Amino acid sequence: MSTIISGTIQEERALIRKTVRNARNTLSKSEQKDAEAALCINFFHYIKLPKPAHIALYLSNDGELDTNQLIQYLIDKNHHVYLPIIHPFDGTTLLFQRYEKNSPMIANRYAILEPKLNCSHICPLYSLDYLFTPLVAFDEFGNRLGMGGGYYDKTLANYHKTGATKPVIVGLAHDCQKVHQLPIAAWDVPLKHILTPSKLYTW
Ligand SMILES: Nc1ncnc2c1ncn2[C@@H]1O[C@H](COP(=O)(O)OP(=O)(O)OP(=O)(O)O)[C@@H](O)[C@H]1O
Ligand SMILES: [Mg+2]
Repeated sequence: MSTIISGTIQEERALIRKTVRNARNTLSKSEQKDAEAALCINFFHYIKLPKPAHIALYLSNDGELDTNQLIQYLIDKNHHVYLPIIHPFDGTTLLFQRYEKNSPMIANRYAILEPKLNCSHICPLYSLDYLFTPLVAFDEFGNRLGMGGGYYDKTLANYHKTGATKPVIVGLAHDCQKVHQLPIAAWDVPLKHILTPSKLYTW
């Protein structure tokens, strides 16, 4: 979708968040199911995984592309899946903890389930092969707009500066989350790849 807007950058970002969140939340249950299945097909078509791969994903919320089936497939294929937990000390960055079928889960401050903290199950960012991020909107240049917490931007700030190639960071989104051009801020970490139910974008 493409949005024509005016106002300050923060107002523009707020308006895009509202418009795109509304668009993805109005997808029907069957559209969401089709999108989830198409995501799995595209994932295994485009993403080349070492065996076993260390892959950070997230549990979907707020109309996001459903990752549940993909997570189950990856676990069934003996890959190691990690989910974000809000850092217990700084409260502003993310840690990635191993998730298995019986992992104890706990609701965070946004009522999103995260694995109950167990330091021995945390995977350092640089040991992940892939990190799949949620997003609210993306544009034709690989810019990413999240929910506004800055969690991924802060977590990836140093990674971005060093130019590290691992983990490979890939945004996941419905096709309806694409806008022509996002108003970006200095701290926004752009993405090299975005996977949707219909294609893989690479910049
Ligand atoms: N690297 C950083 N260091 C310090 N503060 C940051 C950094 N990145 C983002 N922030 C702060 O986080 C706040 C939210 O940022 P932004 O609006 O870009 O969030 P977002 O990208 O939508 O969220 P998320 O990263 O959780 O998906 C901003 O007010 C910004 O000041
Ligand atoms: Mg940002």
